[in-house]
Amino acid sequence: MSAGHYFDDDPDAPSAPTSVDVSLPDMHLTLTGDRGVFSADKLDAGTKLLLLEAPALDGAQSVLDIGCGWGPITCVAAMRAPAAEVWAIDVNARARALTEANAASVGAVDRVTVVEPEDVPAGTSFDRILSNPPIRVGKAALHELLLRWLPRLTPEGVAHLVVQKHLGSDSLARWLTDQGWPTERLASRAGYRILEVRRGTEGGAP
Ligand SMILES: C[S@@+](CC[C@H](N)C(=O)[O-])C[C@H]1O[C@@H](n2cnc3c(N)ncnc32)[C@H](O)[C@@H]1O
Repeated sequence: MSAGHYFDDDPDAPSAPTSVDVSLPDMHLTLTGDRGVFSADKLDAGTKLLLLEAPALDGAQSVLDIGCGWGPITCVAAMRAPAAEVWAIDVNARARALTEANAASVGAVDRVTVVEPEDVPAGTSFDRILSNPPIRVGKAALHELLLRWLPRLTPEGVAHLVVQKHLGSDSLARWLTDQGWPTERLASRAGYRILEVRRGTEGGAP
């Protein structure tokens, strides 16, 4: 997460749509951001690293993007995993509307479900979670958020999170492991870590 966007996350800010390039080795998308939504004018560097480093979504049936923002992770996942249902959740209503519109613009709206977190039906599980999580909510809220959604992984499911090193990626990895969610550092570049989180065989993970 870039610090410059920390306080821009206000869905009540006057709308000022932006055109954002999502350029990756396997695709180039032009999506729409807006004021009041995280990293509205460019693909966040951490998000880009996650999209470059997360393993292929081969065989994924269900993917969850926690904190979708304007939807870069959701849209790329939907393009990469055409057989998957992609769920996008965010507390920011403008972010949800943008993700829905961007999913439509890439032809994936039928496979993308954008909802408030409360509206994900109980019992829905995911074989992949991809997230640039909202570190700014604070450690306690972040921990609560992760322990709310990680148990929705299928037994073989895996989560990939991007977290800045100076915002506590390494201590978060240790904490997750201690909670029964073995977490490894999959990649490290430009101050970001990509964390890979799996179900533990013992401990807290249900
Ligand atoms: C770091 S931004 C990532 C946005 C987008 N995925 C990206 O990569 O550009 C984190 C997002 O999490 C959302 N968020 C904050 N608290 C949340 C919560 N409790 N549940 C779901 N999303 C939340 C914020 O509104 C924000 O859009």
